[in-house]
Amino acid sequence: ATEKRALIMLFGATGDLAHRKLYPAIFNLYKKGSLRKHFALIGTGRHKWTHDKLREIVANSVKSLADNDTQVKNFVSHFYYQSHDVTNPAHYVVLSKLADKLDKKYQLNGNRIYYIALAPRFFGTVSKNLREQHVLSDNGFNRLIIEKPFGHDYPSAKKLNDSLAATFDKDQIFRIDHYLGKELVQNIYALRFANPLFENVWNHNYIDNVQITLAEGLGVEKRAGYYDGTGALRDMVQNHIMQVLGVIAMEPPKTFNDTDIHAAKAKALNSVEVYDAKGVAKNFVRGQYGAKGSQHEYREEPGVPNDSATETYVAGKVNVQTPRWQGVPFYVRTGKMMGKKETRVDIVFKPAKNIFGDGNDVKPVVLTIHIEPGSGFKLSFNRKQIGNGFKLTTASMNDMESKEDIAKTPQPYERLINDALAGDLSNFAGWPEIAHDWKFVDPIRKYWDSKKPDFPNYTPGTMGPKAADELLKRDGRHWIYPE
Ligand code: BG6
Repeated sequence: ATEKRALIMLFGATGDLAHRKLYPAIFNLYKKGSLRKHFALIGTGRHKWTHDKLREIVANSVKSLADNDTQVKNFVSHFYYQSHDVTNPAHYVVLSKLADKLDKKYQLNGNRIYYIALAPRFFGTVSKNLREQHVLSDNGFNRLIIEKPFGHDYPSAKKLNDSLAATFDKDQIFRIDHYLGKELVQNIYALRFANPLFENVWNHNYIDNVQITLAEGLGVEKRAGYYDGTGALRDMVQNHIMQVLGVIAMEPPKTFNDTDIHAAKAKALNSVEVYDAKGVAKNFVRGQYGAKGSQHEYREEPGVPNDSATETYVAGKVNVQTPRWQGVPFYVRTGKMMGKKETRVDIVFKPAKNIFGDGNDVKPVVLTIHIEPGSGFKLSFNRKQIGNGFKLTTASMNDMESKEDIAKTPQPYERLINDALAGDLSNFAGWPEIAHDWKFVDPIRKYWDSKKPDFPNYTPGTMGPKAADELLKRDGRHWIYPE
């Protein structure tokens, strides 16, 4: 890897995300040479830590990935801690001085990445102070990385975006949607745009429907504080599901650069039909898990109010109103406690006319993109059974990654931080996409908030409430997964 020069200023260095995801990701970039001599990280947080304390925490979080102790020691020597109150302008002056000093020491050419791993209510304050207190460098690049949630509805997202836009241009803002950092999500571009065999049939003439499943085996765990105020619609649909849908639904970008990819994806997402209340009632289903055996119901989870109306499950039918997708529904679903983790897209093709007669069943061709835990592609199609006579059966062609390959695959955060260092926005979420996703999600939220749900309505270990099956049944279809 070509070595990049940069100072990373991490707001939220003492937090869980930093420890679990960011330090390991940055360490892997260091190991592979994307970052080496010419990088430094300033971690900030409210705690009164020393440089050594931060280094110790970082060492702990990366040691299982290291070749040896010296590697860890050298790596953590690039880390500096500054205790910081994000609302105090004077603190940014201190940060700025430290940044300048480290810039000289490591010859960083003024390249700076500001990574805000804090609650979104601080995004605006931090970026304003970065500008007003002259923390931004005059030479080199200044880039901002932020985490979800990007607002809780369209107006709040717009306000948030405006507050960032006062300091950063649109090509300086890297909004993480970690689904765009997944190997198999990025692979959809290869599947479609490198293979006319697939791209030529990627439309309403050949595709009957598309199914996007983001099923999770776990429940809310210890995140009730965040999750109960959020719900599956905002937690998974507004961002991850819509981004995956955008990659499947978009027109081929003019070139494979970030500007063209964003334009094409935004156009597809902009064409998603926004439902009115009647449309929501008809096309969207919500659920909340009940109890099963030793697993207690969602409302009994620690930190969840016992009358919570928060959905832990969503299924819906989405219409993309472009000529390519005329009459092709995208069925989407996600939920907690659905038995096991299964993240996949099933592209269901229109079946052939049956010329074989009653004794034969012509099945639709299904192309499955396995995102996780398996990674790869599977195509299932009709073939003839071996033997006399003529009988159809189902065959499949698989291209699944081996366990070894999966273990070697960079994790989303590693990939995305590397992209930000390179200034490549392709796999980040653009504002026009996010804006439309909120405009799509807001009426669903509004309708649901106006009606008391009949919760709990699904059992842990199942694929959600019955209504999610009805959604397809009434269209004469069914969920491909589970087979
Ligand atoms: C996060 C959500 O964005 O994505 C979590 O907040 C969810 O609720 C997670 O569990 C799923 O991500 P992944 O990569 O495990 O599929």
